[in-house]
Amino acid sequence: AASLKGRDFLMLVDYTPEEIRYLIDLAIDLKKKQKAGEVYQPLKGKTLGMIFEKSSTRTRVSFEVGIYQLGGQGLFLSGNDLQIGRGEPILDTAQVLSRYLDGIMIRTFAHRTVVELARGATIPVINGLTDLSHPCQALADYQTILEHKGRLQGLKLAYIGDGNNVVHSLMMGAAKLGVDISIATPEGYEPDPDLVQQSIDHAKETGARIHLCHDPKEAVDNADVIYSDVWASMGQEAEQKERELAFAGYQVNEALAKYAKKDYLFMHCLPAHRGEEVSEGVIDGPNSIIFDQAENRLHAQKAIMAAIM
Ligand code: CP
Ligand code: NVA
Repeated sequence: AASLKGRDFLMLVDYTPEEIRYLIDLAIDLKKKQKAGEVYQPLKGKTLGMIFEKSSTRTRVSFEVGIYQLGGQGLFLSGNDLQIGRGEPILDTAQVLSRYLDGIMIRTFAHRTVVELARGATIPVINGLTDLSHPCQALADYQTILEHKGRLQGLKLAYIGDGNNVVHSLMMGAAKLGVDISIATPEGYEPDPDLVQQSIDHAKETGARIHLCHDPKEAVDNADVIYSDVWASMGQEAEQKERELAFAGYQVNEALAKYAKKDYLFMHCLPAHRGEEVSEGVIDGPNSIIFDQAENRLHAQKAIMAAIM
């Protein structure tokens, strides 16, 4: 625990399997404390700046409530209102914010913006989603799967959709936690090949299987978890029509879910588009755990903040 103090939380690849397990266990513990009404404020008097260059419901509210519950204060900083929106260098911003705050969470487009912010900052930086990754989401997701299934090692997660930020983090999390992951994307929408290779390398330590294909049925076959995400992510709105065509056969629906285990779980990071990447029957059906998943963003991020700030 003490060894995580001062660390950034940018990508799951930077954390060992033991550290990730520690954060998940801490999240489960903090969740228990909160449900029991126990006050736990290790971050009393501390402040978290939250920079948003993209929209957010879950990330914004869960971080702001999370830091408050831990005894601290969150500051919502819109990218448009900050001087970075007018071209102030990110490195200057990093140094200035480091003089006021105890931690920074940032949601932005280019991943290198987060890396630069972390390089310039003397306080921990947390990645709240970039075009490349969404590690807070994956941490909360594996907490959620563990709570529902009682284990992670050896489970099979099928991801159907775009090979981008959310699945990049799920894939590295799978590699580090010993979860088999099978990813079905349309051609041209595969996950980043470097991140796939890194995940395969890390999977050697845990025995996890990282599998890529273009056939949703193949991916979902015998899966414990089916996961989907939007076809057009934030920043890709102009590609909506083109993506609807490319992803046409990639809807998670009742017919596809038949290939999974009977007691499969359906997950989605949200926001979702019913009738596009997932049918109403699946996302609002008995196997869906989307709101447990959304709730755990709060607990998982409290664990991250309590550990590193
Ligand atoms: N899943 C997720 O990050 O949701 P928001 O975009 O609402 O933060
Ligand atoms: N892939 C989605 C995830 C949103 C939480 C996006 O980047 O918009």
